[in-house]
Amino acid sequence: MSILKKHSLIEKNATLLLIGSLVVVTIGGIVEIAPLFYLQNTIEKVEGMRPYSPLELAGRDIYVREGCYTCHSQMIRPFRDEVERYGHYSLAAESMYDHSFQWGSKRTGPDLARVGGRYSNEWHVQHLIEPRDVVPESVMPSYAFLLNTPLNMSGVTGNLKANIAVGVPYNQEMVDNALADIKAQADPDADTEALLARYPKAKTGDFDGNPKVVSEMDALVAYLQMLGTLVDFSTYDQSPKSR
Ligand code: HEC
Repeated sequence: MSILKKHSLIEKNATLLLIGSLVVVTIGGIVEIAPLFYLQNTIEKVEGMRPYSPLELAGRDIYVREGCYTCHSQMIRPFRDEVERYGHYSLAAESMYDHSFQWGSKRTGPDLARVGGRYSNEWHVQHLIEPRDVVPESVMPSYAFLLNTPLNMSGVTGNLKANIAVGVPYNQEMVDNALADIKAQADPDADTEALLARYPKAKTGDFDGNPKVVSEMDALVAYLQMLGTLVDFSTYDQSPKSR
């Protein structure tokens, strides 16, 4: 019997065909899934990534609370048009400390994965107070109230601990200094050396134009200004081998 004839046996018998299909799918499934159980981590480590500073973390929580993700994604796909518009495509490691991640699936506004450093603090504050003041055709809502809402800092230590529980590597020193750090980052007169040692590249100073009060605006702008700035892509080896 030639191989083709044998095959017609399977094709004419529904039960045999079903069993045969199941065997094939099972082999494929094992080959694809089994190795995942033996990997420590599926995310490639990238230099520069660190947990959010307490102020950035608070800003991120405001970003989530206000639903900014309903209009903004934070994931640049590896397509030429996106890379030319937004910068280097997003790496998995860049959102590994995000709980929950903010990739998003809707872009009413632009992707924000690399918005950090693109505008001044003043621009962000003005834009969040009244988007149409700086971008006349904007449909983004106004978030002026953030400026007059003092940041509730009482939960900051618990916030870090909760993130530790889901795998973010904050150490004891970071937890012990959480309250001091959240205040220092938005205080133009503070000594920020220890803060910057704990959270390299964090932007410090007054963000919202009112140095006397740490507002929700301070936290949100601190968060926006660090987005996409941690990994130094000029030193990131992009050869296919290392990917
Ligand atoms: C209803 C949809 C919508 C929501 C909600 C929204 N935005 Fe926007 N956003 C836009 C649009 C549209 C633009 C482009 C026009 C402009 O710059 O205002 C934009 C632009 C921006 C920009 C400038 C980006 C760039 O590269 O020029 C930033 C930063 C930004 N939004 C932050 C936020 C933050 C933070 C929140 C939540 C507090 C938010 N947006 C909520 C629609 C939205």
